Amino acid sequence: MFVSSWNNHHHHHIRPVYCTLVVLVLFLILLTAVVPPLATLSASFFPATSLSYARPSIWTVGRAVEWRPCNWWAPPASDGRPVLPPPRSNGFIRVDCFGGLNQMRRDLCDGIGIARLLNATLVLPKFEVAAYWNESSGFADVFDVDYFVRQTEGYVEVAKELPEEIASREPFRVDCSKRKGLFDYVESVLPALLEHRYISITPAISQRRDRYPLYAKAALCQACYNGLRLNKALESKAMELLNAIPKPFLSLHLRFEPDMVAYSQCQYFGLSPMSLKAIEAVRGDRKPWTGDAARDWRNRGKCPLTPNETAFILQSLGIPTDTTIYLAAGDGLMEIEGLTSVYTNVHRKASLLKNEDFIQMHGNTKAALDYYVSVNSDAYIATYFGNMDKIVAAMRTLARKYKTLLLSRRAFAEYTAKGMEGEELAEAMWKAHKEDFVMGRGSALPDCFCDFRL
Ligand SMILES: *[C@@H]1O[C@H](CO)[C@@H](O)[C@H](O)[C@H]1NC(C)=O
Ligand SMILES: *[C@@H]1O[C@H](CO)[C@@H](O)[C@H](O)[C@H]1NC(C)=O
Ligand SMILES: *[C@@H]1O[C@H](CO)[C@@H](O)[C@H](O)[C@H]1NC(C)=O
Repeated sequence: MFVSSWNNHHHHHIRPVYCTLVVLVLFLILLTAVVPPLATLSASFFPATSLSYARPSIWTVGRAVEWRPCNWWAPPASDGRPVLPPPRSNGFIRVDCFGGLNQMRRDLCDGIGIARLLNATLVLPKFEVAAYWNESSGFADVFDVDYFVRQTEGYVEVAKELPEEIASREPFRVDCSKRKGLFDYVESVLPALLEHRYISITPAISQRRDRYPLYAKAALCQACYNGLRLNKALESKAMELLNAIPKPFLSLHLRFEPDMVAYSQCQYFGLSPMSLKAIEAVRGDRKPWTGDAARDWRNRGKCPLTPNETAFILQSLGIPTDTTIYLAAGDGLMEIEGLTSVYTNVHRKASLLKNEDFIQMHGNTKAALDYYVSVNSDAYIATYFGNMDKIVAAMRTLARKYKTLLLSRRAFAEYTAKGMEGEELAEAMWKAHKEDFVMGRGSALPDCFCDFRL
């Protein structure tokens, strides 16, 4: 390739010896510029699937913008001291949460904001038996109740025990979870609260938090990001896991589980029969898109990255293939060889903890372990921007851990749709993520966080 491009661009009147010399010198210059130092070449560097050109690590890129907690809520901002709740409460609110751990946490956070908006007293939330996990796991099973009460003091009224007047009855249920679009809680929920004095709510998916007074937003932010920590038993188990992982390490949240793939309605080629069977088992009536619709869907960044694609992108980002990786993923993760054939130093919960550790553990408590390790890892990369990723990214931001990155499914889909592959694709992926990383995009944190120009 090198010689032929030389031939194309130069004229025949140059004398052959001179020519050879120039070729040699140029070749040497190119060799030192393009090929990484010999010391970094190892056998694992050149598997058939591997890229041969090492870019600098994405983490060495300087940031121009980063996210920080906004001054109006984060202690010890004395000027931003939130307005204390009025002494007379409008009633009691219990937040009922469903789904996986991080979805429940998201709903809890929203519910806290709503309780403060309505000048209500919060009772401890109910973490429901969830179909997805097939288990029951209450709030206190995961989080430290006393800490929560202490940390929310002055932001929102919390009652650890139900007062006598309501203790004997179930709350009046106000389910907002199916409500979409603009939704005004003062208009729609306050009347029920005033009438029944004790209600339970499940927050709506999209809300108008921008309309909240600052004191309600501050309550949400403080409770959600400074008020929740794992209870003692779970934290010590999580710490044991963290200690067992060789340092430094990257926590990789790889979401390629059957439910996720079925839900995405994406088309994949070349999956193993076992994976296909697992996906079909949970597919339900969500049939995958086909043809043009499937392509458009993919180009909009809707399709979860496979372990194989993830391995490619990590390499494009200059993450060395001998990096210690903790795989924050459920037991159902599929096609994992696509990652482990390239990244050979991958650890999972099941390989680090003893079997007995899991007997008492449910989906929610296992998810809590992944959460804890991911917040405390040296670097965090997510292949999807789901509930866990949003919360982990926020908690890492609070701890000023800047090595946090969400991979761009959209960029990957767009470039591959254009027919890019190999080195060209890797270069394009590097540039896309570099821009996101420099400008603090991609991991944009709403509501409680403000962007800060460095
Ligand atoms: C991903 O899978 C494709 C098709 O099986 C293969 O050609 C490619 O080399 C794999 N890439 C990586 C990084 O494993
Ligand atoms: C809540 O209390 C504040 C004063 O702290 C008041 O301005 C606001 O109107 C009250 N909201 C409701 C819904 O009662
Ligand atoms: C849920 O758990 C129960 C008891 O452990 C079990 O009998 C049942 O088959 C499980 N259901 C599903 C859908 O996994």
